[in-house]
Amino acid sequence: MSNSAQGYGKVAIVLHWLIAVVMIGMICLGLYINKNEAYHLMSTHKSVGILIFVFVVWRLLLRLLKGFLPALGSTSTFQQILSRLVHWILLLGTVLFPLSGMVMSAMGGRGLQVFGTEIFPMNMLNGRPAAINEDVSEMAANIHELLVPIMIAAIALHILGVIYHQFIVKDNTLSRMLGCTKCHK
Ligand code: HEM
Ligand code: HEM
Repeated sequence: MSNSAQGYGKVAIVLHWLIAVVMIGMICLGLYINKNEAYHLMSTHKSVGILIFVFVVWRLLLRLLKGFLPALGSTSTFQQILSRLVHWILLLGTVLFPLSGMVMSAMGGRGLQVFGTEIFPMNMLNGRPAAINEDVSEMAANIHELLVPIMIAAIALHILGVIYHQFIVKDNTLSRMLGCTKCHK
């Protein structure tokens, strides 16, 4: 179950791929909704974002408790620092994206619903949603927007790094995250 000197544990691997697919999908969905004014998809965006929050917190705790695995092969100090930095940006971004979204909606008075089930009530005033704290909601919205270019850049760098390791350095970095224990040197 846990990370070992050679490989990531099953839980870490499942969480990585689940969160990777959902994060990439959610960034695309958020951008699509805004660009095409497809607001009927917003409740799906919010519901999936709230649900994934449970898993990103679980994963962050796991990483804080167990640390990252050491790099495979002969990696320069610069590359090790860069990869650690990108991993931290990715981890924090996955937490801040849903968190800022939830704060933006809840403090904006629009409540939180997961596929129709209310988990935080709307703040209705004269039949319309009224902000609970406009400033906090605005700040969270700015964070949500600021995360877009930061996370797209970090994910692109991350994928380039993985391709470089797997196919140029050939040190099985991708195999390790796919759970192939026999592949390790
Ligand atoms: C995995 C988590 C999430 C990701 C990756 C994500 C990503 C995005 C992206 C890329 C946009 C488009 C921003 C733009 O075009 O500038 C967006 C917009 C938005 N998201 Fe999320 N989001 C997530 C979770 C949430 C959650 C949990 C909520 C609320 C409960 C939420 C509420 C919103 C709202 C209201 C907008 C429209 C903001 C605006 O137009 O000002 N998001 N999101
Ligand atoms: C096609 C997309 C992706 C591929 C091929 C990929 C591949 C990998 C690989 C091979 C590792 C292991 C690196 C090592 O052992 O040193 C890793 C680690 C990691 N990846 Fe990805 N990844 C992808 C997408 C993402 C996305 C979208 C995120 C987050 C938004 C992410 C976050 C992380 C983090 C935080 C780690 C460090 C280990 C951990 O905490 O689980 N990855 N990834």
